[in-house]
Amino acid sequence: MFEEERFVTSTKLDVDGEENSLRPKTFDEYVGQEKMKNNLQIFIEASKKRGEALDHVLLYGPPGLGKTTMSHIIASELGVQLRITSGPAIERAADLAAILTNLNENDVLFVDEIHRLNRAVEEVLYPAMEDFALDIVIGKGPSARSMRLSLPKFTLIGATTRAGMLTGPLRDRFGVICRLELYTPNELAQIIRRSASILNISIDEKACLNIASRSRGTPRIANRLLKRVSDFAIVMGEDCINEKVANIALEHLEVDSLGLDYTDRKVLEALIRKFNGGPVGLETLAASTGEEAVTIEDVVEPFLLQLGFISRTPRGRIALPVAYKHIGAPISDSAASQLSLFDKVDGNE
Ligand SMILES: Nc1ncnc2c1ncn2[C@@H]1O[C@H](COP(=O)(O)OP(=O)(O)O)[C@@H](O)[C@H]1O
Ligand SMILES: [Mg+2]
Repeated sequence: MFEEERFVTSTKLDVDGEENSLRPKTFDEYVGQEKMKNNLQIFIEASKKRGEALDHVLLYGPPGLGKTTMSHIIASELGVQLRITSGPAIERAADLAAILTNLNENDVLFVDEIHRLNRAVEEVLYPAMEDFALDIVIGKGPSARSMRLSLPKFTLIGATTRAGMLTGPLRDRFGVICRLELYTPNELAQIIRRSASILNISIDEKACLNIASRSRGTPRIANRLLKRVSDFAIVMGEDCINEKVANIALEHLEVDSLGLDYTDRKVLEALIRKFNGGPVGLETLAASTGEEAVTIEDVVEPFLLQLGFISRTPRGRIALPVAYKHIGAPISDSAASQLSLFDKVDGNE
């Protein structure tokens, strides 16, 4: 299966319009992530009372969990404009300078994939974030002078799937750092119910929970599965999506009972069958499955970790007993002794 065909990818494939219609617009509509929401609401209220720009916010977590959505909500709660750009889109320092000088007081600048900013651009960002200033160099050679321009006060919201790839100086300049968690099946069911009503899809409660529990903890996937299952229902001539329809559809889509898709199972099978349960390094695992290391790290692993299927050890990834059970593979003696070693080191069950 090619990456384009992978169904349960959570990278953005939808055209913006389709996804936008389902995007929650207020904190109340935004399901889950309670801790993040509570904190942000307090900081927003305080900044409004002070009449100042909100401190810079870093949102991090796997794709499809609601980072872009949250940045829209923050801007709208603040009552300011949201400017959207992304790390790879800002090629030169001058591009960023142009964006910054065009901001209005207290605006929100959203930089998606902020870990992909290049160094020269990042250097411009430091004084902008810290002092709301732009240092520009006029002229060349010995007569060159540096001049400081002041910028409107603004809030930078950075989004990234990998906080670990941010440089220290950049990370330190964010006053608020929020990590988004995978969603529980109940939260996803709530999201599916809401989306179904927006899209005029009728679905019963059991089917809703069924899709929710097979959405890899990810709202974007839940919405996508809902739409594809609804396609099946239409073709099957069912007016309402019930559990039977959902099961048939999800089986066709190669999404298994826990929500693992083809790629997840391929990675897990390789780890267990080719590498005897590990430990195996990320790059080796990537090479042997034909997947990109970043896909494995950002998309496949967070969910496998949440399921307790794998563990990251200093020597590489290892498969845990529940993963063997799910795949239906026996645990070899040597793998079992690896696991008991791991238990002793980590105090795991
Ligand atoms: N907390 C949430 N409640 C309801 N729907 C959500 C939530 N988070 C995300 N979604 C849905 O999932 C989609 C993907 O979210 P998005 O913000 O684009 O994710 P990210 O930017 O983290 O990749 C959104 O269009 C929205 O419909
Ligand atoms: Mg996004």
